[in-house]
Amino acid sequence: MKFVNNAWYVAGWASEFESRLKSITILERNIVAYRTIDGRVVALDDRCPHKFLPLSKGQLVEDQIVCGYHGLTFGGDGVCKRIPGQSNIPTSAKVHAYPTYERHGIVWIWMGEPEHADTADVFDLPQFEDPSWEAHLGEALHLKCNYLSVAENLVDPAHVSWVHPTTLGNAASEDIPVDFEITDKNIIAWRWIRDSPPIGFFQQYGNFDGNVDRWHYYYLHLPCTAVIDFGSVESALQLPEARRHEGCQIYAIHFMTPITENYTIDRWMHIRNTAIDDDQVAAQIDAMFKVAFDEDKAILEAIQAEEERAASPPTLRLAIDKGANVYRKRIDRLIEAESLQAAE
Ligand code: FES
Ligand SMILES: [Fe+2]
Repeated sequence: MKFVNNAWYVAGWASEFESRLKSITILERNIVAYRTIDGRVVALDDRCPHKFLPLSKGQLVEDQIVCGYHGLTFGGDGVCKRIPGQSNIPTSAKVHAYPTYERHGIVWIWMGEPEHADTADVFDLPQFEDPSWEAHLGEALHLKCNYLSVAENLVDPAHVSWVHPTTLGNAASEDIPVDFEITDKNIIAWRWIRDSPPIGFFQQYGNFDGNVDRWHYYYLHLPCTAVIDFGSVESALQLPEARRHEGCQIYAIHFMTPITENYTIDRWMHIRNTAIDDDQVAAQIDAMFKVAFDEDKAILEAIQAEEERAASPPTLRLAIDKGANVYRKRIDRLIEAESLQAAE
């Protein structure tokens, strides 16, 4: 199997779930989801155990799904509550219920064994709740490519000079080496570009007169969350790295949800320490991100098409790829550990 199961993935923004049946696919599993009357999100395997009609083709009646073929009725726990025409309900009449968790307007789903689900493991940042920061949900980027490539791109500061010349990068960073730190929890890749003109993004938001020091820290949390901490500060201030929050700082956060082996949804958002409560700035930032992320999409889909077109020799491994290489190894290790566990 090519996915890590024992993990929380983003099932969608909270606004995507209402009191009606919605079919979604995550890790190649078809799921039916809905919001209960008291506001919880239920997620069940989208297949009636009777004749396999997708439950999403049935009806939601008072928080229960009534199958559209013979009326078997399932509760939010996945257990069959009614079989029209017979009073005994076999214990096998049930579907898998996925644990879900909602916080900061984001709905998470646990794709592994439910007994291993621990909400303490759901990704979080203190800035979500900090009044001197503003969290703003963005949109969903649909990419026709494998999630590993999307994640790799999000631990790769070296591509921004080339792929995002008008928004996130400029020529000043082309030759600056990338630093890496590998920790138990995540993979970090970063670089500082000192005393150079602001990138397009911060020409708009920083009100900078002269050159800036700017940074990109890419944090990849396994398996599928990436945080890009980037920002700028006037070079004259000579701000040390640890005080970069005194500059203009933005966290661009990407939640990757593998849909199938070659389809990934990247839901993106940002948290900023500037222009708090200014919806117009949030919209402008979204617009700039959309330009940049469409540039990533074009690159990643072209690579996927090329990989599918012809069997290829291994790719070149360069110094800038350390984060990506460690990421792939760690994902392989997690998947292997899960398959060993399943075989026990
Ligand atoms: S297929 Fe669902 S009740 Fe028969
Ligand atoms: Fe990019």
